[in-house]
Amino acid sequence: MSASEELEKLAVKYASEAIQFDEQGSRGLAIRKYQRAIEILLKLCALYPNSAQNKVYMERVESYKKRVESLSGQGTYQSPKTAPSELEKAKFEHLVIAEKPSVKWNDIANLSEAKKAIEESIIFPVKRPDLFPLGWPRGILFFGPPGCGKTLLAAAIATEIEATFFCVDAASIMSKWLGESEKNVAQLFGNARESSDDGHPSIIFIDEIDSLLRYSIGEVGGEARARNQILKEMDGVLDKNRTLHVYIIGATNKPWILDEPFVRRFQKRIFVPLPDTEARSEMFKLFSKNLKFSPEMDFSELSRMTYGYSGSDIRDIFQSVQIKVVREFFEEGDPEDKNATPRYINKEDFIQTLKRRKPSVSNIAIRNYEKWFEDFKAL
Ligand SMILES: Nc1ncnc2c1ncn2[C@@H]1O[C@H](COP(=O)(O)OP(=O)(O)O)[C@@H](O)[C@H]1O
Ligand SMILES: [Mg+2]
Repeated sequence: MSASEELEKLAVKYASEAIQFDEQGSRGLAIRKYQRAIEILLKLCALYPNSAQNKVYMERVESYKKRVESLSGQGTYQSPKTAPSELEKAKFEHLVIAEKPSVKWNDIANLSEAKKAIEESIIFPVKRPDLFPLGWPRGILFFGPPGCGKTLLAAAIATEIEATFFCVDAASIMSKWLGESEKNVAQLFGNARESSDDGHPSIIFIDEIDSLLRYSIGEVGGEARARNQILKEMDGVLDKNRTLHVYIIGATNKPWILDEPFVRRFQKRIFVPLPDTEARSEMFKLFSKNLKFSPEMDFSELSRMTYGYSGSDIRDIFQSVQIKVVREFFEEGDPEDKNATPRYINKEDFIQTLKRRKPSVSNIAIRNYEKWFEDFKAL
């Protein structure tokens, strides 16, 4: 898990505890937890000032601040019962990130299997439903090692397909509204069905879908209900006779956690693997768009050197190399001179950086993905 994901998880934890305390009427505890959540969200925004999530985080911060004010008597205090809208706001803002991402197909290296699956399951049926007398798949699962483009694919689908995109992360469904998650799931699918009424597809993207099942270990009952509600809603969507254009895309780094009922409902199960030589070369092109290289730079050799590295590993290497030459420029060049620029990046920069950065996915993990793919693939 990346540092930002970990922080976000922590914020989610505090927020959900705050809401629970709030509902129980424990004002003091609720305030403290809301404040912790606010602190962490602000820290996230400060650490990653360019993240697309920040707008959503700041909205959450605002709604928690309002609630804290109200609870601490600075505003007009309303109990959760008389101020359902305030509390509701604090809750629902986690669920759906309606903002459209701006990732394009062309920003994704390779992954042609995944792109094909999306054409067959969404693009073609939306254009010509009459050509699919046996129905078509509504559930697609992307699985594979972290950092290889699953979330990126979902973002590109949202930009490239004229669809209403509901982006949900499974951990939030399960951890935020104990007891209420079932209702929220129903509402999510209801919204998706409604907005697909005009033939416009609705896509529900559930990232890290394995966490729906992780929480069922040692559960109290509410989580199981939420999970069953998702299965039930998916059945409604998958029903062959309906011409409904609601699609469910799931992504996971841990497919083996999913149990049979879940796996079965994703009629397409697509492996998003580590990039091969060709994919790595494509990534080099993508990541070096705004960089300058010395003429002796040999990308085919770099491709050999980066065997086993994930897409995000490679992006990080490029970033690191780029920062390296900028650092040199600040230390040895003349940063005050507006016309001066850092030197070109060369092969030696990559060699040095690769020595310090190892692939993030282990060989054992790769074999596990391949085995799961052999056992459960559905292309
Ligand atoms: N196939 C790819 N093409 C281009 N960039 C990629 C690809 N795979 C990973 N990346 C880079 O790594 C980052 C993380 O990828 P992401 O889609 O979040 O991985 P995950 O599979 O864990 O969901 C992306 O934002 C992108 O910069
Ligand atoms: Mg992801």
